[in-house]
Amino acid sequence: MGAQPELRILLAKEEIETAVRRLAAEIRGDYQDKYPLLVGILKGSFMFMADLIRQLDFPLEVEFVRLSSYGGRRKSSGRIKVVQGLHSPVKGRVVLVIEDIVDTGLTTSFLLDYLRKRKPTSLKLCALTDKSSRRQVPVTIDYLGFTIPDKFIVGYGLDLDERFRNLPDICILVDES
Ligand code: IMP
Ligand code: MG
Repeated sequence: MGAQPELRILLAKEEIETAVRRLAAEIRGDYQDKYPLLVGILKGSFMFMADLIRQLDFPLEVEFVRLSSYGGRRKSSGRIKVVQGLHSPVKGRVVLVIEDIVDTGLTTSFLLDYLRKRKPTSLKLCALTDKSSRRQVPVTIDYLGFTIPDKFIVGYGLDLDERFRNLPDICILVDES
């Protein structure tokens, strides 16, 4: 279990809800007649995906991919592979990737390249949070919830060593070291 670290709310659930509604309105405007395939990256995006698609009142499909990166517990190493891939073909589909956070950009740009090779008609990215100051590779975020400071966040799907995904707010882990 481990000791309880100190958490400070960065984005309260009401702010997240408002952002999700705004993003859904933007996405509805662009995708409502396109039968998009929404691709979430596990595990972090599951809660954002669940809330977002409940605001989308038009036909769409949902898929999840699971990626693994061999890195430290708070960092991705950039060596990424697909652990669980897609069941639906991407060729000719209108695809929207749903991500909880873009940090260095390595994970997202890997997945975008992976999908692009499969020849979708359109490929865009929706991210709830962007830690833009940490970017190592350029990533275009077409639909963005929040730009956040360079702090480790947990909650609303995001974890530290698999903990805290269940928090309704997004919190900063206050480092005591
Ligand atoms: P990137 O490849 O550096 O952009 O990192 C993307 C992945 O690292 C995300 O999908 C998260 O799983 C994880 N990550 C990066 N920053 C955080 C954070 O502040 N909290 C929790 N997970 C994070
Ligand atoms: Mg993630």
